Amino acid sequence: MKNIDSATHTRGESIYLDDIPILNGTLFGCAYPSAVAHGVITKLDLAAALQMDGVIKIFTCSDITGENQIGGIIPDEPLLADGHVHFCGMPVAFVVATTPEIARAATKKILVSIDPLPVITDPREAQRKGELIVPPRVFKMGDTDSAWAACEYIFEGSADTNGQEHLYIETQGAYAVPQENNAVRVYSSTQAPTAVQRAVCKVLGVPMHQVEVDVTRLGGGFGGKEDQANTWAALCALAAFVLKKPVKYSLDRIEDMAMTGKRHPYSSDFKIGLDKNLKIQAYEVTMYQNAGAAADLSPAVLERSLFHSTNSYFIPNTKVTAYSCRTHLPPNTAFRGFGGPQGMFVIEAAIAAAAESLGVAAAVIQKNNLIQTGDEFPYGQKAVSEAVACWEKVTQIHNLDAIKKETDDFNAGNTIYKKGLALMPVCFGISFTKTPMNQARALVHVYSDGSISISTGAVEMGQGVNTKILQVAAHVFSVDPAKIRLQTTNTGRIANTSPSAASATADLNGKAALMACTEILKRLKAVAAEELKQDAGIIEIKNEELFAAGKATGWTWQKLVMTAFLKRVSLSEHAHYATPVIHFDLTKEKGHPFAYHVYGTAIVIAKVDCLRGIYEMESVKVVHDFGASMNTAVDKGQIEGGIVQGIGWMTMEELVYDASGVLRSNALSTYKVPDIYSVPKEIDIHFLDTDKDNLAILRSKAVGEPPLMYGIGAYFALRDAVRKFNPAAVIPFSAPMTPEKVLTALYHTKNKETAAAASPNEKSVYG
Ligand code: MTE
Ligand code: HPA
Ligand code: MOS
Repeated sequence: MKNIDSATHTRGESIYLDDIPILNGTLFGCAYPSAVAHGVITKLDLAAALQMDGVIKIFTCSDITGENQIGGIIPDEPLLADGHVHFCGMPVAFVVATTPEIARAATKKILVSIDPLPVITDPREAQRKGELIVPPRVFKMGDTDSAWAACEYIFEGSADTNGQEHLYIETQGAYAVPQENNAVRVYSSTQAPTAVQRAVCKVLGVPMHQVEVDVTRLGGGFGGKEDQANTWAALCALAAFVLKKPVKYSLDRIEDMAMTGKRHPYSSDFKIGLDKNLKIQAYEVTMYQNAGAAADLSPAVLERSLFHSTNSYFIPNTKVTAYSCRTHLPPNTAFRGFGGPQGMFVIEAAIAAAAESLGVAAAVIQKNNLIQTGDEFPYGQKAVSEAVACWEKVTQIHNLDAIKKETDDFNAGNTIYKKGLALMPVCFGISFTKTPMNQARALVHVYSDGSISISTGAVEMGQGVNTKILQVAAHVFSVDPAKIRLQTTNTGRIANTSPSAASATADLNGKAALMACTEILKRLKAVAAEELKQDAGIIEIKNEELFAAGKATGWTWQKLVMTAFLKRVSLSEHAHYATPVIHFDLTKEKGHPFAYHVYGTAIVIAKVDCLRGIYEMESVKVVHDFGASMNTAVDKGQIEGGIVQGIGWMTMEELVYDASGVLRSNALSTYKVPDIYSVPKEIDIHFLDTDKDNLAILRSKAVGEPPLMYGIGAYFALRDAVRKFNPAAVIPFSAPMTPEKVLTALYHTKNKETAAAASPNEKSVYG
C-alpha cells in the first residue's frame, strides 16, 4: 500500500505547522540568540527594539512565570539566558510583535554586552578539565587486560566523526493559542508531544492538564525534534500565556541552523587485538562525546554508542569507556542512529587499521568475526543473529569475487580514476535504551457508520508510521483502508507519550493500536454471534463481509457496527502496550535492553577522480533484515533515505565551528548536503525475509535508523580507492571524507617525519 500521505504531499496540500490557519490577533515571535559562546551578560538594552512600531513585548528570563528550565534528562538548560551564556545561539530574549518581519527586525536592535569567558569546543579538552555532563560509563565483557597476551596482532589508533545538521525540510517552530482558564494549546513541530507539554508546564508553572500539544505531522525530524522542539514551544506558550494572544514562531533556516544542536561529534581512541586466525580477541575503546553546553539527550546518546561499539561482531574481551563532555557548542542531540553510528565507525576504523597493516581485505576480518546466534553482546544480551545470513546473501547475489575482479581490472586500466570497495555490516538494537520509555497507547473509535478513527502517540514525520498503523487496523478489522483515519497526535487524547524515536514508533504504537482494534473486534464478534446464533469463534470478517464457519452470512461490516451500537456495546477502546522481556541493570551495565536487533550488510563502491579529489558513489547494494515487511514501499524508502543521509554524514557534510564556538557552516551555501547528483547511481535493496518470531509489529522489523549506518561504508570505500592510487597514503580516521581530505591523501607522500606530522593519530603498529 502507498504511503497515505503521498497524494496530499505531491499536491502540496499536507498540513505542516506553517500551514495552520492563523487566528485573528495572532502575534509573532523571534528569539535573540547570543553571538558569544561563553560569557557573562553585563548589559541588556531592549529600549531601541521596544520602540519599534508593532513590538508588543520582549521576554527575558525575568518574565518567566514558572521555572527557567527546559532540560529533559538533567535540569541544566535555561530557556532564556540568566546572566550567563553557554553557547553561541543561546536564546537571550524573545521578541513578540504584530508580524514576523517586525519581530525579526527588532531582534537586530537589541544591544547586549557580554564579558567573554574561555571557550571549549574540543571534547578531549573538556574531559581533561573535568567538564563532564554525567560520570563516565564503562561496558565490560571478558578481560581485555589478560587477552592482549593471547593476541598475535595489536593495533592502536584514533578515530573522529564530525557532527551533522538535521536539515529537516520544515524548520522548527510552534504556535501557541491561549484557552479559557489559563490553559494553552500548543501546535508544535515535535517528535515528542509529551516532552513539549512537560517543558511548557515547567516554564509556565502550570500542571500538565492545562497544556494540550497537538501535532499533525512534521516535515522531517531525524532526531532534531525529539528534544529541541521544546524551546520554541515554551517561548510561544509563555508569550501566549502572559499576553493572552496566540503567538507563533517559525524559525528561518539560518536561525534554525545556528540555534539548534546537531549530531554529536565524537573523538575516540581504540586498541584492537587479533589472534593468528584473525579472530578479534580484544577491543578497547574510549569515546569522547562532544555534548555541547547542556545535557539534552547526550547521556542517552552516549549509552547507545556503548551498546553499538562492537557493531555486528562478537568480541569476547571488550572494554568500552565513554565520556559525555561539556563544551560551548549548542547542546547536541538525537540524530538518526542516536550514537550508534559514532560507536560503529570506531570499530570499523579499528578493523580497517588492522587490515591495512596486515595487508588483508577488511572484509576478511569482518566476516570472520560476525556475531552468531547465542553469542553475547558486551551488555549481556544474547544475539539472535542474522549477521551471517545478510553477509552471505549480499555477497552471493552480487558475487563479491566478481565485483572485486571488476574493480581490480578497472583500477589496473585507469590511472586517473580509482574505485574503492567496502562492506558494511550493521546490527542495531530496537527499543529505547531507557526501558521505561518502551510503552505506548492507542485510542480507537469505530463510528456508527462503520468508519474508524485512530489516535496514538506516534508522530508522522515522513517515515510512514501512520500508514503502518492504518494497515494494522485494516488488517484486524478487514475493512477498506479508506474507512480509517489517523488523527493528529494530541496529548489530550493520548497521554504520557514517548517520543517518536528509536525506530520503535510503529512497533510501540502499532502494537497498542493492534490491541485496541482486537478488543473492539472481539466485542463485534460477540454481537454477531448473538444475533446469528452462532459461536463467536467461527465468526470472521473478510473485506467488510461477515462469515460464519467460512459461509457468507449476508451481514456487512456496517450492519454489524450499527447493530452493536443499537445494542449499546462500546465501539471505542484505549489500549496500552509495554514491550515485554526487556530490562537493564545500570549498576552492572548488563541486561536485555532490546526487543530485538536489526541486521544487514551493504557493499559500497566509490569512484575517485584522482586529479581533483572529487568522487561519486557508484553503488550501494544491501541485504537488509526486514523480518516480514508490512510495507515494502515505505521500508525501501526508509533504506534509500537513510543511506543517502549516512553517506552525507561520512563524505560531504562538514560542520565547522571556529575556536570561538561560532558556527561557520551556517547556511546551505557553506554546508553541503547530498543532492540528486550525490545519490549513488545505484541503490539495490534485497530483503532478508525471516519468519522468525519477534517483537516487531506484525513481525515487520523497525527500519527507521539502521540503514543510515550503511553510509559508513562510503568512508571506507573512499579510503580504499585512495589507497589504490597511493598505497603509502597515511589517512587519519577522520570523517567526513571531504574531497579536500581525499585530495590531500591522494598526494600524501610517506616519509617518517611528514607521516608523523600529518597524522598524529596513527600510532605505531606493534605485534
Ligand atoms: N524518515 C523521514 N522521512 N523523516 C524523518 O524525520 N526520522 C528517522 C527515521 N526516518 C525520519 C525518518 C528517525 S531519527 C527515526 S528514530 C525514525 O524514523 C522514527 O520513526 P519510526 O520509529 O517510525 O521508525
Ligand atoms: N533512541 C532514540 N531516542 C531516545 C532513546 C533511544 O534509545 N532513548 C531516549 N531517547
Ligand atoms: Mo531518532 S534519532 O531516534 O529520532
